[in-house]
Amino acid sequence: METSYQKLIKGNKSYAESRLSQDPDFFKNLAKGQKPDYLWIGCSDSRVPANEITNTQSGEIFVHRNIANLVVHTDTNLLSVLEYAVKYLKVKHIMVVGHYGCGGVQTAMTNIYHGYVDNWLRNIKDVYHDNSQELDAITDLTERANRLTELNVIEQVRNLAKTTIVQRAWAERELHLHGWVYGLADGLIKDLSVIHDSSENIDPIYRYTHVKPLSDDIIKL
Ligand code: CO
Repeated sequence: METSYQKLIKGNKSYAESRLSQDPDFFKNLAKGQKPDYLWIGCSDSRVPANEITNTQSGEIFVHRNIANLVVHTDTNLLSVLEYAVKYLKVKHIMVVGHYGCGGVQTAMTNIYHGYVDNWLRNIKDVYHDNSQELDAITDLTERANRLTELNVIEQVRNLAKTTIVQRAWAERELHLHGWVYGLADGLIKDLSVIHDSSENIDPIYRYTHVKPLSDDIIKL
């Protein structure tokens, strides 16, 4: 009897066949290397797959996903992905992509204990705390969660701008940071228009001077 996981292997076979039928060199070309223009920092939610919802192909988006699309300055996974994407892949745009109906955001709005994950979601509670006047004034809980989702994305974009990695990229080239929210109910991305392309619009305490360009690190063998 076929178990449910075998559905994925079957699906993969038909995926590979359909790509090859359109372009016999599709995988041969992909295997040569990647040159994506975008780094996507999104939620792990199964309903928000980066390529599928943007109609893009393999090779176009470098992806990092975690619960509630957070940019935490001690997260070595995120920082490694970010450095690699910016320094070596030289992506031109980084988008933090939240989504309405995010379980992480909704949970962070409650006081119910869930375990280890509460320490991760604490970052969203901080966003709530910083915007509590605005959020408490929204009586509808879904609307309040939606606004917190947007504020969380804006804060994570700011967190990206505060990293030495992004500021080192800005020391030598253009790099654009964007904040987006995806609607599960309509399939559409809302651009929050919180573009950062220099450290000028972040609080001065987070701006570094004498920043060495990232390319200084690249060892030429
Ligand atoms: Co989510």
